[in-house]
Amino acid sequence: MWNGIIAAYKDFFGVKEGENIVTLNEGNTPLIPAENIGKMLGGLKLYLKYEGLNTTGSFKDRGMTMAVTKAVQEGSKAIICASTGNTSASAAAYAAKAGLKCFVLIPNNKIAMGKLAQAIIYGAEIIPVEGNFDDALRIVKEIAEEGRVTLVNSLNPNRLLGQRSGAYEVCDQLEGDIGYLAIPVGNAGNISAYWAGFNDYYKAGKIKALPTMLGFQAEGAAPIVEDRVFQEPETIATAIRIGNPASWEKATAARDESKGLIDKVTDEEILETQKLLASKEGIFVEPASAASVAGVIKLSRKGYFQKDKTIVCVVTGNGLKDPSVVEVEKESKVYGVKTEGIKELIYKSLGSEEND
Ligand code: F0G
Repeated sequence: MWNGIIAAYKDFFGVKEGENIVTLNEGNTPLIPAENIGKMLGGLKLYLKYEGLNTTGSFKDRGMTMAVTKAVQEGSKAIICASTGNTSASAAAYAAKAGLKCFVLIPNNKIAMGKLAQAIIYGAEIIPVEGNFDDALRIVKEIAEEGRVTLVNSLNPNRLLGQRSGAYEVCDQLEGDIGYLAIPVGNAGNISAYWAGFNDYYKAGKIKALPTMLGFQAEGAAPIVEDRVFQEPETIATAIRIGNPASWEKATAARDESKGLIDKVTDEEILETQKLLASKEGIFVEPASAASVAGVIKLSRKGYFQKDKTIVCVVTGNGLKDPSVVEVEKESKVYGVKTEGIKELIYKSLGSEEND
């Protein structure tokens, strides 16, 4: 049985037998070949690390199991985070499991409904903040410094430690070297954690070469790409609507040490790619997650990739978290409500007038 990332990689996490672990059996997510999109791009070896299948539907669970395990060991009774949605959902779930109180500060009206629903049902105390994620993060940092609540944003080093497991899994699943690792960038923790994870595996002799790191921000929230703070970040991909990432320097180090890049994609490219992933590969991801694949498509058009090398795109969150971006009302009523003539409609769509 899979018992979560801490049990699976305990040598890397320094956790000993018999220690109390708070886990929701996160991790072990599938690495799915994206053969159809790979073919469309002229024969690229493309894989999707589908993080939407973690227990709360995003990669955040990998870091949260570590952060909450340590918080409990240190005697903490409450955790706090700022979030564009996924961190709050994950924090709330692990707090529920551990019996801790959980406070989440969210940008007012700017998080996806599914994520908010999760935080509510897991029992977190939700405090909407007048401002964006960066404002909320500043507030939780100040409160956590007083020591009564444990911060579980990625400024907590245990978060990034746990998130390294994504890199370990990708290496184990491919049983070989990875050419490129493409990933969305918001607060810039995950790209930093993957890079650290690949370095752990490299030092342990489990991979022979390090991948090139490719990070992608949304055009309206691209502080690292443009090397300036965005005071008013704006994008349909609310998960990465961040103007002043906490792990900025770690992310640029990952980029530079791996000879990679951090680039931006437009909201239009993000939404087109989200549809492409669903309609060509059967994978429904949230908009922020599609940024990694949108970025790979953009680079492939410029002839960036060496074709013999594998490309892994981390798709970070489940599409069901944010159904508002799909035109459900319109698409479900294309045919109008029917009582008869249904078979004829189907046969017409199949391109056959035949009846039986
Ligand atoms: N993808 C999704 C689905 C996310 O929720 C996030 C971050 C990212 C990508 C970017 O990862 O911040 O490590 O660079 N979400 C955070 C949150 C900010 O509050 O849930 P990052």
